[in-house]
Amino acid sequence: MHRDTLIVHAGYRTRGETGPFLAGPQFSSTYTTPGDPADHALTYGRFHNPTWSAWEAALGVLEGGQAVAFASGMAAVAAALGVTLTRGDVLVLPGDCYYAIRRLAATWLEPIGVRVRLVPTRGDQAAVLDGARLLWLETPSNPLLDVCDIRALAGQARTRGVLVAVDNTTATAYVQQPLDLGAALVVASDTKALTGHSDLLLGHVATRDEALVVALRAWRTHHGAIPGPMEVWLAHRSLPTLPLRLGRQCASAERLAAFLASRPDVESVHYPGLATHPGHAIARRQMRTFGTLVSFDLGTRTRAEAFLRALTLVREATSFGGVHSIAERRARWGGDAIGEGFIRFSVGCEAVDDIVADVQHALDAAAGR
Ligand SMILES: Cc1ncc(COP(=O)(O)O)c(C=O)c1O
Repeated sequence: MHRDTLIVHAGYRTRGETGPFLAGPQFSSTYTTPGDPADHALTYGRFHNPTWSAWEAALGVLEGGQAVAFASGMAAVAAALGVTLTRGDVLVLPGDCYYAIRRLAATWLEPIGVRVRLVPTRGDQAAVLDGARLLWLETPSNPLLDVCDIRALAGQARTRGVLVAVDNTTATAYVQQPLDLGAALVVASDTKALTGHSDLLLGHVATRDEALVVALRAWRTHHGAIPGPMEVWLAHRSLPTLPLRLGRQCASAERLAAFLASRPDVESVHYPGLATHPGHAIARRQMRTFGTLVSFDLGTRTRAEAFLRALTLVREATSFGGVHSIAERRARWGGDAIGEGFIRFSVGCEAVDDIVADVQHALDAAAGR
C-alpha cells in the first residue's frame, strides 16, 4: 500500500477489531497488580502506558524502526545522547544545530568528560570522525536550513565505527527517513510538524538496534522523561492528516521561497527546494519534499521588525510546523550565527495565495512602499 495510506492507519485498531478506531487516552498512574508484578502487563505509569504503545507503533511505521516516545524533543535528544555517550567519548556535533542542543552539550556533556567537536552542517565532518563515538547530524538545520548527505556521512562513520544520530525535526519522518539512509538513531521534536497543531510538546527516538531500544526505555523510566497520555493521544489523533498537512505546507513553502527569491529587497533566501540552495541536489536525493520552513534575511533588525509588524495573517511566534503560519526574527533569542534581520518562517495550511499576499504586503510596508 501507499505510504500515505499506511500513515492514516498507523497504530489505529485494525478492521477486524471492534471498538473505537483509536482507544482514548489511558490516565493511570498505577494498576491493580496483586502478587508478583511480573504476572502483570501493566504495573506503574512511569514504566508503560497503552496510549504510548499505540503511538510508538505508529511512529515505528513512519520511521521504519522501533520508536520510544518522550515528553519533549529535548527529552528525546537527552536520552539519545545519554544512552550513547560516556566519559572520554567524542561527540561530533553540528556547530549550527538547534542552539539548545549545543547548550546541553556544553552544560552537561562536557562537564562530565565528553569531548565535543563542533563542525557546521556544510563542513567536513569526515575529517574529525577518527576516535569519535557519535556523529550527530541535523538536516535541514535549524534555523539556517543547511543540508548534509546522511547516506554518505553514515557510510564514512560506519567504516570508523562511529554511531550516527540524525535530528529529523525540521524534515519529519514523512519527508526524510534517516534509518533507511544508514543512521543508527533518529531523534525528533514532535512538537513541530509531525503533530502540527501547536498545542503540545513531545519527542521520540527511533532505531533498529534492539539494545538501544532497551536502553532508551530504561532511560525514560529512570529519568522520568515520560510523555503525558493526553498529549500522546492528541498527537496520534492528528497523525492521519500528516500527509495532507505536509503535502500542502511543503508545496506552499516552495511557492513562498520562490516568491521571496524574486524580491530584490530580500537579501538571501534559505530553502533546500530552491535550485540555488547549496544542498539542493542532496535534498532532492534524501527528502521527499523540502519542508515547511523558509528562512530569509531582510538585512537589518529594523526592517525585520517592520515586516513582522505589518503581517496581518501570519502570527509572530516561535516554533514551527503547525497548521497556522508563523514567523519570527530569530536573532531575538541569541545562540545562532545569523544576522539581525534573519526571519524564520513556518508555512501553515492556509491558502498559499493568502500567505504570499500577506508577505508581499508586509515586505512592501517594511520597505516603506
Ligand atoms: C531541531 C530541533 N531539535 C530539537 C528541538 C527541541 O524540541 P522541543 O522544543 O520539543 O523540546 C527543537 C525545538 O525547536 C528543534 O528545532
